[in-house]
Amino acid sequence: MTSTPQPITEPGADFMADKARDHLWMAFTRHSHYYDGSGHVPIIVRGEGAYIWDDQGNRYLDGLAGLFTNQLGHGRKEIGAAMAKQAEELAFFPTWSYAHPRAIELAEKLAGYAPGDLNRVFFTTGGGEAVETAWKLAKQFFKITGKPTKHKVISRSIAYHGTPQGALAITGIPEAKAAFEPLVPGAIKVPNTNFYRAAEEYRHDEKAFGLWAAERIAEAIEFEGANTVAAVFLEPVQNSGGCFPPPPGYLERVREICDEYDVILVADETICAFGRIGDMFAMNRFGVTPDIITCAKGLTSGYAPMGAMIASDRLFEPFKTGRNTFLHGFTWGGHPVAAAAALASLQIFEDEGVLQHVRDNEGAFRQTLEKLTDLPIVGDIRGAGYFYGIELVKDKVTRETLNDDESERVLRGFLSKALFDAGLYCRADDRGDPVVQLAPPLIIGQPEFDEIEGILRSVLTEAWSLL
Ligand SMILES: Cc1ncc(COP(=O)(O)O)c(C=O)c1O
Repeated sequence: MTSTPQPITEPGADFMADKARDHLWMAFTRHSHYYDGSGHVPIIVRGEGAYIWDDQGNRYLDGLAGLFTNQLGHGRKEIGAAMAKQAEELAFFPTWSYAHPRAIELAEKLAGYAPGDLNRVFFTTGGGEAVETAWKLAKQFFKITGKPTKHKVISRSIAYHGTPQGALAITGIPEAKAAFEPLVPGAIKVPNTNFYRAAEEYRHDEKAFGLWAAERIAEAIEFEGANTVAAVFLEPVQNSGGCFPPPPGYLERVREICDEYDVILVADETICAFGRIGDMFAMNRFGVTPDIITCAKGLTSGYAPMGAMIASDRLFEPFKTGRNTFLHGFTWGGHPVAAAAALASLQIFEDEGVLQHVRDNEGAFRQTLEKLTDLPIVGDIRGAGYFYGIELVKDKVTRETLNDDESERVLRGFLSKALFDAGLYCRADDRGDPVVQLAPPLIIGQPEFDEIEGILRSVLTEAWSLL
């Protein structure tokens, strides 16, 4: 620091916001907003259950569980206590040729929850690193098993898979990538499963649409050459674009295609795992076994940064004997304190029957949100479990979407802040068509569903008047 910036206000209510503006480089944030006088950085100081409070004492319903992370809600003393105990006992030791009890226990537990023979857990500190790890493993696996030219990956349009250069190459959002091109070569895109935007011929047949979308993967493999394609990456329910569940038969057909062409199927469950879709892993709920699962976020319920890649026995096999080594790792991967947080969180899942709670209440969540379909701006409500997207349109009949100008004015200029000011923290997103995204803590029930619906109703009604 070469000079001391002057706060724009005297120390007091906005002082922290001034410091944030002047020193904190926030992720994916348009900072000019805080310099042109139109906004202050919102500062969240406390959380309890499904609610958070800002530094002005205002309370908000956490409709996004932090960032798809806080499955069990805020302020869980048991998790904090487990972390403190671990820090006292052994604050850190790497999982590089050594192990420690919490990483071992957690790996065993995750292997137990994972489908099929996904028994081998490689820890990272987040989702992007897990995706990066999966792509590197896929490449090396084929190199050491006699198919060295298999290296490309297929993923879906608008899908977000993280920001490291490999994960960003897999990401299907051109605007998120443009500033950093060229990225890792060999990342091919295919259509996602946005049924609301399906071509007219498939609009009334979800299964046929799903099979059409799955066949696009086979087509891409054929086009690129099966001898060049290593993996397909997909989320069980795609977040970016606004919650695209897999149409019936889609995942099954993708599995068949991957088997047919000897391509590794990676389920990126960074968001979908740990109860979001009512199971520890969404692929369990959908009944399809991938070769790799990547996960993060809800693994610790947001109490510590941690991710994992969980690979099948077949993929680990070549590393079991001889000199083959996966020359890859992160210092913090499998951090003892994070592993202790994850174990404590997963214990609460079991003790409180959190998965069953989601299954018992997911129907009511959907029904409550579906009341909003009477609003002219609401085009589609889609999702699964405790994970929903509400697509906004200008015309319900033609499904006409907002243009760039309207998105800028209504979505970014009004909606995000208005929802927050009305007491709901969630996300208004236009990485695909404009959507409001909801992924609340898994502990909520009907009173909070009603609160979400009530706030959305009044703010979306106002948004419509601005169009
Ligand atoms: C599906 C998916 N994959 C990967 C990531 C990247 O995770 P992280 O931010 O922990 O690197 C995200 C983050 O939102 C995600 O949603």
